[in-house]
This record gives sequence, structure tokens and C-alpha cells, in this order.
Amino acid sequence: MGHIPVHAHLPALAPLVESGEVVLQAFCDINAEAAREQAKAFGAQAVYASHEEMLEKEELDAVYVCLPPTLHQDEITTAVDKGIHVFVEKPVSLDMGQAVEFSQAIEKAGVVSQVGFMSRYYPSAEVVQELLAARQPRHAQILKFYSGKHIRYWTSRYELCGGSFVENTIHTVDLLRYFLGDITKASAFYFERQPGAGPEPINMPYVYCVNYRFASGVVGNATTSRVLTNVEASRSEVLIISDDSLIEWSTNEVLENGESVWQAKDGAYRSAFSFQARAFIDAVRAEDPQMMRSPYGPSLNSLAAVLGANASAENSGVVIDLQDFTFGN
Ligand SMILES: NC(=O)c1ccc[n+]([C@@H]2O[C@H](COP(=O)([O-])OP(=O)(O)OC[C@H]3O[C@@H](n4cnc5c(N)ncnc54)[C@H](O)[C@@H]3O)[C@@H](O)[C@H]2O)c1
Repeated sequence: MGHIPVHAHLPALAPLVESGEVVLQAFCDINAEAAREQAKAFGAQAVYASHEEMLEKEELDAVYVCLPPTLHQDEITTAVDKGIHVFVEKPVSLDMGQAVEFSQAIEKAGVVSQVGFMSRYYPSAEVVQELLAARQPRHAQILKFYSGKHIRYWTSRYELCGGSFVENTIHTVDLLRYFLGDITKASAFYFERQPGAGPEPINMPYVYCVNYRFASGVVGNATTSRVLTNVEASRSEVLIISDDSLIEWSTNEVLENGESVWQAKDGAYRSAFSFQARAFIDAVRAEDPQMMRSPYGPSLNSLAAVLGANASAENSGVVIDLQDFTFGN
């Protein structure tokens, strides 16, 4: 069991297990010991090191697929072909063609799906959505200055995670889509890290500067920085500018024109995972794919927006049409 199920999804599901609404039937990980540990903690009877075996032997209503984005095989297609509802962690792939193929299988099966964009479940995100319903947004800005060291090898390698913009900032790009609708075009410049520049094993760009055009006409810029390593300093800002309205979103507070309009009472980070888990279980029970905020198919636009930024940066900032990029034209 990896980082995200142990630290976020299992704690979010725990109250639903305790109340008897959810039974965690089986755990699967190629690291069988890690799966056994979680199975023991949650009273699950079955542990597998192969998803093929698990999906063949178990009768499941839903699965959580929490794999690094380059490691997907046929676990999603096999599950949905059996009518099993799927929760899939972001970024769902680094290969747009593979993501489209999985999306088509999910669509055909008619099952509930959710991509792990839990930011849509922060109460603060709902506040911004409500504010924007009565405003005319024209401009959006994301600023993410990450610092510290990567805790997993694969999240420090461009070829394994797609870079910090794909692996991390995808959450915030998806949140802008929740506020502002789909993105149609991307253009990007990155400050590349030269081979061996380190600190090892990092081989990802220092800086990602990405421009977006939304279908609504809104323009936005997302700047992600991975220059800071050995200091505590960091910065995270999400701004949406409408006529006479500057909205600043964060997990714990929403400001408009410098004045606080909403503040979280406690634990915003945890609560987003809990609300997302609650919504997924309710949607599975109702067998209603419409009940989720980030079903797999519509979420392809968030993936295209970050992989399209990489494609633009790799081609001198050329403008990428995300519809063409998604469907391979
Ligand atoms: N929503 C969030 O805030 C958030 C936070 C962290 C990670 N994530 C995402 O969750 C996904 C998983 O990340 P993680 O941090 O848990 O990764 P991780 O490296 O900690 O764990 C991955 C797990 O997958 C197992 N695994 C690998 N191949 C397998 C296979 N074929 N069958 C079964 N198990 C296999 C590994 O043994 C490991 O236990 C990534 O896409 C990541 O981007 C999301």
C-alpha cells in the first residue's frame, strides 16, 4: 500500500467502515506485506499481489486504483468490464492515448468513476463557485512555489511523474476548471534542469510557466517553481479576477478584494478527502455516475492541460490545441 491510500483514502473511508456502510473486502499490492498490514488493520479477509487474481476471485462493487501514472496496465479496463465502479488517482496516466482508451471503457461500462481531484471537495471551493455564479471572470492566476525534498523516487523523475506541474499542479489546474470550465489552449516555457545538475535524483525542470485560454474566453497563467530545496519558504496562491472582484482561494480561507468572506473551522485538507469518499460511496450505492465532481471522462481536460503544457515546453512554447492533443489529431 502506497502513500495516498494509507495517509488519505483509508482514513477517509474508516468512519464508513466503522458504521458498516463500507466493507473493505480485499487489498492488492505487488508489495504483499504492505497490503497485508492494511488488510489486518481494516479486517479485510483477502490480500493479493496481482490485480488479475483479485478481480477474478473477488465480488467487488468498487475499487480504488492508487498507482503512479506510468504503472497502469489493464486493471481499470478489467474492473469496469465487470461492472465495478472505479476511483482512480491523478494524474491518471502520462500517456494521453492510454487515458482516452480507459475513458472509453468506463463510458461504455456506464460505471461510476472519480479521479482523485479532491480539491473540488474543499468547502472553500464551493464558496468560490457560488461567488463566481454572480460574477464575470476574465483572468486567473496560479502561483505554486514548492520547496523541500521529494519523498518518493518516482516523484523526483520527469519520465516517471511528468514533472511537478503534472504531478502536483494538476490539482490546482483542475480546480480552476471547476471554477471556470474547460481549457482549450496551452503554451508553456520551462527552465530545464541540465542532466546531473541535481540535487540527485531530481531531473525535473526548475520552473514551469504556463499560459491557458479557457473556452469561456478567460485567460490564465500558472507558474510552478521547484527552485527551493533546502529552505522552508514556499508560496501557494490561486486568484480569480472578475469585474471589480479579486477572489483569493486557499484551502482554509476565501478572500474577495482583500476581505475574508469564508474561513474553515478546522482540518480542511482531511475534510476534502472525507467529503470525496462520502460522495463516491453514495454514487456507487446509487449507481449514478453523474453524482461525482470529477468523473474520468470530463477529467481528461485537466490531464490534457498539464501534459499539453509539457508538449508545448518541449516544442519551444508552441500553442497546443487541447482537443487535438487529447484525441491525437
Ligand atoms: N490526491 C493527492 O493529494 C495525492 C497525493 C499523493 C499521491 N497521489 C497520487 O496517487 C497515486 C499513487 O501515489 P502514491 O504516493 O500512493 O505512490 P507510492 O509510490 O507511495 O505507492 C504506489 C504503490 O503501488 C504499488 N504498486 C506498484 N505497481 C503495482 C501493481 N502492478 N499492482 C499493485 N500494486 C502496485 C507499490 O508497491 C506501492 O505500494 C499517484 O498517481 C499520485 O500522484 C495523490
